[in-house]
Amino acid sequence: MARPGAAAVALAVALLEVALAGVGAQGADLQDPDYYVQEIWSQEPYYARPEPEPQPFSPPLPAGAGEEVRGPRTPEPRPPKKATKPRKAPKREKLASEAPPPGKNSNRKGVRTKSSEKPASGDHSVPVARGDVSEDCPPLGLETLKITDFQLHASTVKRYGLGAHRGRLNIQAGVNENDFYDGAWCAGRNDLHQWIEVDARRLTRFTGVITQGRNSLWLSDWVTSYKVMVSNDSHTWVTVRNGSGDMQIFEGNSEKEIPVLNELPAPMVARYLRVNPQSWFGNGSICLRMEVLGCPLPDPNNYYHRRNEMTTTDDLDFQHHNYKEMRQLMKVVHEMCPNITRIYNIGKSHQGLKLYAVEISDHPGEHEVGEPEFHYIAGAHGNEVLGRELLLLLTQFLCQEYLAGNARIVRLVEETRIHIVPSLNPDGYEKAYEGGSELGGWSLGRWTHDGIDFNNNFPDLNTLLWEAEDRQNVPRKVPNHYIAIPEWFLSENATVAVETRAVIAWMEKIPFVLGGNLQGGELVVAYPYDMVRTLWKTQERTPTPDDHVFRWLAYSYASTHRLMTDARRRVCHTEDFQKEDGTVNGASWHTVAGSLNDFSYLHTNCFELSIYVGCDKFPHESELPEEWENNRESLIVFMEQVHRGIKGVVSDVHGRGIPDAVISVEGVDHDLRTASDGDYWRLLNPGEYVVTARAEGFTSSTKNCMVGYDMGATKCDFTLSKTNLARIREIMQKLGKQPVSLPARPLRLRGRKRRQRG
Ligand SMILES: *[C@@H]1O[C@H](CO)[C@@H](O)[C@H](O)[C@H]1NC(C)=O
Ligand SMILES: *[C@@H]1O[C@H](CO)[C@@H](O)[C@H](O)[C@H]1NC(C)=O
Ligand SMILES: *[C@@H]1O[C@H](CO)[C@@H](O)[C@H](O)[C@H]1NC(C)=O
Ligand SMILES: *[C@@H]1O[C@H](CO)[C@@H](O)[C@H](O)[C@H]1NC(C)=O
Ligand SMILES: *[C@@H]1O[C@H](CO)[C@@H](O)[C@H](O)[C@H]1NC(C)=O
Repeated sequence: MARPGAAAVALAVALLEVALAGVGAQGADLQDPDYYVQEIWSQEPYYARPEPEPQPFSPPLPAGAGEEVRGPRTPEPRPPKKATKPRKAPKREKLASEAPPPGKNSNRKGVRTKSSEKPASGDHSVPVARGDVSEDCPPLGLETLKITDFQLHASTVKRYGLGAHRGRLNIQAGVNENDFYDGAWCAGRNDLHQWIEVDARRLTRFTGVITQGRNSLWLSDWVTSYKVMVSNDSHTWVTVRNGSGDMQIFEGNSEKEIPVLNELPAPMVARYLRVNPQSWFGNGSICLRMEVLGCPLPDPNNYYHRRNEMTTTDDLDFQHHNYKEMRQLMKVVHEMCPNITRIYNIGKSHQGLKLYAVEISDHPGEHEVGEPEFHYIAGAHGNEVLGRELLLLLTQFLCQEYLAGNARIVRLVEETRIHIVPSLNPDGYEKAYEGGSELGGWSLGRWTHDGIDFNNNFPDLNTLLWEAEDRQNVPRKVPNHYIAIPEWFLSENATVAVETRAVIAWMEKIPFVLGGNLQGGELVVAYPYDMVRTLWKTQERTPTPDDHVFRWLAYSYASTHRLMTDARRRVCHTEDFQKEDGTVNGASWHTVAGSLNDFSYLHTNCFELSIYVGCDKFPHESELPEEWENNRESLIVFMEQVHRGIKGVVSDVHGRGIPDAVISVEGVDHDLRTASDGDYWRLLNPGEYVVTARAEGFTSSTKNCMVGYDMGATKCDFTLSKTNLARIREIMQKLGKQPVSLPARPLRLRGRKRRQRG
């Protein structure tokens, strides 16, 4: 793939321009008429952050800068890392939970989640700070699984499912908490000699420990205080001491789910780190989940060092973007690629943040006849943030590669209309963002501002279809597709999030063919149905009539991901998806009524899948380059699948497209309809198909259509002629409004024909 040196420079220059404009005349660039036309950058910022504008060309920080003494409010440098390119420098402190900078307070009310949210995990605020911030080192990766099971050890364990390898931040227990997969490390005995240990496998400057209680519905187990020890050989241990030279007792947790960060009074250089519990809750056991913060020291001779260091050759903006920064980035991309991008919004969140979409196409803003439409969306759960960043990286990448003339990307952009919505629940995201990548827990920011879970907020059309099928009303009374949304759902009183309504309106307006929604917390691609058909079951494989196509689509993503189909990979939490190659039927995993995927399939032409992009819902910024590498190929391959199957135009004898014509494929009990120009797309795996086009007032037409293995949908056009009845009606209308008695008309017609012939 061409690496566009020039394009990278262009992006950098564009960033600089934006930064400079931001310093001097904030409003000036916002008044660009182009932006007004598209109704984007609103003048009033949603909130003013006091932090400096992006400074892309600030010099890389010298190594060891973190050792300087800093006031508590000094923005902290990033962890030492390859200083190969200019980066955004001082940015807000994330891990350290120091007092919020002035002006930030107004946003912090969002941190406390609503009481309507699940109390078990959602209702908490971000822990308050202790002590000064000395350095910002990234997590070692207990949560991301970068630290392998072999690097975790413990004094004793209660049983296998509560072993040291389960002592990872945010790990989730299985449904039966007595199985192999339980929600923490728990010591086999409850005394002061218990410990859990991480082997970093190289010298590391440890700076902090984050702990959490046991994930359990029934039990209350957490550690209320602990000591920390470090070692270079796991025999001789040095206990971390406080300012007065005593062994420091760190204050631990006070409930199960809220992560609590303790920074070490001074960074400790060592290879091993142990947490040694000193007290624990009530009559419970010693159980904890944790993450360790540390900066690996340079060690070029270390095998693990080289193996674990992931680099990317793409020059993209690898960092988390809050709402304002996301908007800014979209603007930069649009300025760089004005010919192939358009920015619009599909509505507003509960709190009034816009749901931005970036459209990428050679003719942005219009549907081209015969060109399929594709979408990626992310951030439906505000705390599953990796998808958002991957999509922002994707827009930059598509723009850069298009400019660089990458043939594959140029073709994709020319033949597809791509819509990308990175943040469907910006209100939730802002909450999660305040919590930060490690301290938000498992669910802070998941829900919309009014406490709705987007994942099951769509109308349940499955039940409508299945009940009609059971009464044998399909397809005579109820169609097997385009199931109507029930009245009650549309009423203002229905508990439907504004974000959900926005997505429904968007999907009804644009003839999407294929879509992917990026989620987090697992590593798997889930395809519909998401809801079980047997009422009392919670899991049951529930295939759609298009099961083969969906499985292929899911596999196309999973098999090109760097980890999803890796059989040696450890499971994220409790589910092993390897038996289906990193894919799963949604309902066979866990049933969800009212999912986007099921809604999309039953109400529109769009085939929609859920792509779970990682175990860690909110990975640390330093993980983004690697995650981009993991997903880049998959993101492109999946988009290319929109060109599989057959496509064409259904038109009348005068060549006018017929909208809303029904396309049926023999043997597949799910029809589609043509878009407003009479064009249609039918995703199909390779094979030979008998396809019928029908439209009201026209005689239907049937054809054989072949789908080959090569990319590119087979063209399969239909020309329909009017039925006799329709023709008669048409002529009647032409002849004027006078009612003509029917029996007379065929006679007259015949008479005229005879005259013409004669
Ligand atoms: C481990 O080794 C490093 C380098 O030799 C040294 O700086 C550090 O103090 C040692 N740590 C401990 C806990 O002994
Ligand atoms: C150090 O730790 C000891 C024991 O935990 C405690 O009594 C003492 O107050 C601490 N001193 C400081 C300066 O934190
Ligand atoms: C611990 O157990 C004892 C006896 O079973 C009970 O009386 C006490 O309330 C328990 N304490 C807590 C904190 O659960
Ligand atoms: C956009 O299109 C115009 C006209 O085709 C062309 O001159 C210009 O170079 C293009 N700009 C970019 C950034 O590709
Ligand atoms: C909606 O709520 C309003 C006020 O609570 C009530 O008057 C109205 O009847 C409700 N409408 C429906 C369709 O339930």
